[in-house]
Amino acid sequence: EKGGYPHFMLKEIFEQPRALADCLRGRLNVENSSVQLGGLTDIMDRLEGAERLIIAACGTSWHSGLVGEYLFEHLAKLPVEVEYASEFRYREPLISEDDVMLVISQSGETADTLAALRTARERGALALGICNVVGSTIARDTDAGVYTHAGPEIGVASTKAFTTQVAVLTMMAILLGQKRNTIDSAYAARLIRELNGIPEKIEKILDHSESVKNMAELFTYAPNFLYLGRTYNFPVALEGALKLKEISYIHAEGYPAAEMKHGPIALIDKMMPVVVIAATDHTNDKMISNIEEVKARGGRIIAITGEENSEVIDLAEFNCPIPETEDCLSPLLTAIPLQLLSYYIAVNRGCDVDQPRNLAKSVTVE
Ligand code: M6R
Repeated sequence: EKGGYPHFMLKEIFEQPRALADCLRGRLNVENSSVQLGGLTDIMDRLEGAERLIIAACGTSWHSGLVGEYLFEHLAKLPVEVEYASEFRYREPLISEDDVMLVISQSGETADTLAALRTARERGALALGICNVVGSTIARDTDAGVYTHAGPEIGVASTKAFTTQVAVLTMMAILLGQKRNTIDSAYAARLIRELNGIPEKIEKILDHSESVKNMAELFTYAPNFLYLGRTYNFPVALEGALKLKEISYIHAEGYPAAEMKHGPIALIDKMMPVVVIAATDHTNDKMISNIEEVKARGGRIIAITGEENSEVIDLAEFNCPIPETEDCLSPLLTAIPLQLLSYYIAVNRGCDVDQPRNLAKSVTVE
């Protein structure tokens, strides 16, 4: 059932080219530069006229929601708030009928996410969902939604659920941008074409898994890790740190790179690996200064960056080059080496990768 892989997590990491292709299939039309999301047709008018999008989720799904915030603001010029479902449900949120609530959940059974959804619905918001499990409670409780079609995810650590959620959010943001006329048509065409080619680029990254495995050997006994990213890759930094924490039990923190100066820089010394997620975008120069600051304090840089980003590649001690892509699609690629890194470190440490201690696949109680 693990298809020849030693763990479900590794199988699911390697399934991503197929999972992404299944997620995109029938939804992207490269010839006429369009996106079709059948599940949203009936509510499209209301979504188009929304004043605000509220995204609520937990854990990894909350990280994909953060990527969604950048996507919807950039492509659809829609104000977005991303909420921890567990906090949202116990606040006194100000919600109106012009708001749209979008909940994201792989399992569709997370108790806090379900409660956040119900809170927003009771106050009149349109309720949308992005779920993987077909017919799950959250999927049934929403007004409309989009399935990720990632296939069953068994490993407790979420992998293909994350990348397919980000792919759905990207399609939704492009579609909404086209409806709201906030996206330039040549740019939309380019994004659709590029998104369609993402499964192949993931395949290329997976072809180099051996080099991530070798790198993992060197860092197996590091006591702490720091992950830094900016813009679209700030949420990926959080996700990389969560992955490492939950399966290898190494303390890790993810930060927006500029926040390093406001505290975490005090932790940096030669024992501290710093994973820098530096997709080649308009923040590249800033990332380069952050790398220099880490190096000046003896920190060890592992860079996840575009293969043409020679400045970063030359500065870093270890590199995981990834194929170049559009900035806003980069999380679909940068997440992959981070999944592999945490997997191989956890295996080296003898951890139970698929069933980490104290964790359940879906958290159906508070
Ligand atoms: O099923 P959901 O997407 O609602 O689950 C949310 C979180 O419990 C989940 O993403 C958790 O953080 C994962 N173990 C992360 O790998």
